Amino acid sequence: MATIVFSRFSIYFCVLLLCHGSMAQLFNPSTNPWHSSRQGSSRECRFDRLQAFEPLRKVRSEAGVTEYFDEKNELFQCTGTFVIRRVIQPQGLLVPRYTNAPGLVYIIQGRGSIGLAFPGCPATYQQQFQQFLPQEQTQSQKFRDEHQKIHQFRQGDIVALPAGVAHWFYNDGDAPVVAVYVYDVKNSANQLEPRQREFLLGGNNMRAQQVYGSSAEQHSRQNIFSGFGVEILSEALGISTVTTKRLQSQNDQRGEIIHVKNGLQFLKPTLTQQQEQAQEQAQAQYQGVQYSEQQQTSSRWNGLDENFCTIKARMNIENPSRADTYNPRAGRTTSLNSQKFPILNLVQMSATRVNLYQNAILSPFWNVNAHSLVYTIQGRARVQVVSNFGKTVFDGELRLGQLLIIPQHYVVLKKAQREGFQYIAIKTNASAFVSQLVGKNSVFRSLPVDVIANVYRISRDQARSLKNNRGEEHGAFAPRSQQQSYPGFSNESESETSE
Ligand SMILES: *[C@@H]1O[C@H](CO)[C@@H](O)[C@H](O)[C@H]1NC(C)=O
Ligand SMILES: *[C@@H]1O[C@H](CO)[C@@H](O)[C@H](O)[C@H]1NC(C)=O
Repeated sequence: MATIVFSRFSIYFCVLLLCHGSMAQLFNPSTNPWHSSRQGSSRECRFDRLQAFEPLRKVRSEAGVTEYFDEKNELFQCTGTFVIRRVIQPQGLLVPRYTNAPGLVYIIQGRGSIGLAFPGCPATYQQQFQQFLPQEQTQSQKFRDEHQKIHQFRQGDIVALPAGVAHWFYNDGDAPVVAVYVYDVKNSANQLEPRQREFLLGGNNMRAQQVYGSSAEQHSRQNIFSGFGVEILSEALGISTVTTKRLQSQNDQRGEIIHVKNGLQFLKPTLTQQQEQAQEQAQAQYQGVQYSEQQQTSSRWNGLDENFCTIKARMNIENPSRADTYNPRAGRTTSLNSQKFPILNLVQMSATRVNLYQNAILSPFWNVNAHSLVYTIQGRARVQVVSNFGKTVFDGELRLGQLLIIPQHYVVLKKAQREGFQYIAIKTNASAFVSQLVGKNSVFRSLPVDVIANVYRISRDQARSLKNNRGEEHGAFAPRSQQQSYPGFSNESESETSE
């Protein structure tokens, strides 16, 4: 099912590329000079000392704050990643923009709306709006408006932001929205230099002023309209020069997150949370199959658009019922990859949410095909990371709000502290997977006892214990007390554990 959907999606995508030459340049990986070169261009990336990061700079806007992690640090440059954390106050609107690199957003707290303007897709949203709010029909007739689908997001959601696709966020809740954004700047979708760039459609970016200081970045402060001549732009858009100057946000001090005085009126959530969850389940079962009202609209426009234009841009990763592994004594892990969440094919990234209970251990593993950016959502953990030289490149504690970059293939071991440990890992591959050392389906489980016994100079009984002691556990391991004996390695027992 998933493959069929994906191939139809690809076909549509190819059609789109042919129709829109400019889009083709943005998305086509084969013309990208940075394609498949994830190494730092000229610098040497040794990854021999990792560190827990916290945001380095803070830039305030009228209705929120954007905090930047240190993009100049070697670890971000070598992995080709760029990370920000953003707080959007209630009734705050993050102005529309697009980026040169795709990103994944994790909603740490709050709820709101997000709009993505997929190129060439029909404006389908008005019908839904009228349908759901019949009592306001007179008003909506007054403001006959059509626009693309608006997605509701809430805590625990992953939102995918494809490169070059304009998007905006709005906080329609009562509490601040807090979100962490991870961009993959060495992604094949980015043909510019491997650095994050934002193209604002409105407002301006105070970040350039505050981060880089002076005149060198003069132009990057402004939105894309400010660089055009007023006359030619007003003619092109068919608006007055007065309005055109407004688009250019001249003398606009609000920054990139603006306060909407009476709230965005047309943005009422159309679904209750239960309806939304029901939809999500339906979506999970029939990926790509659209809801009836959307299907009608899209088939009128173009039979091919349904998988691209109505593609789901958000999915909840916190929902316990979606967990991939669950151990009632240790915790759970949930991964979103391109099979469960098709838009990840477009952004070539994926995410894993891990919830470890008190003192639980996460099975030691390495990321087979991705770098992993671990951001702590709750609690603390003792974390060790080891390189191919067997060298400890990180040995420390990871606390709330801290970020750790774990390079591909490096082996990581995490143990939750007393308060437990929850994190989100954003990975630089749409179908990222890990290789576990012990536990179910692990490397040790797949090796013959005799190989293990000879390699480590231990008895076969001990080798069997190594294979089986965590044999039925997968992902999160329950803590073991210090006093407890480890059969096969203690004096008391050489027998293997029962399974
Ligand atoms: C993602 O992983 C798959 C499977 O290991 C691999 O074939 C693919 O090249 C990877 N993609 C990127 C962009 O690294
Ligand atoms: C094993 O037994 C010896 C002798 O009784 C004792 O000294 C040692 O501490 C024990 N080791 C462990 C791991 O229990």
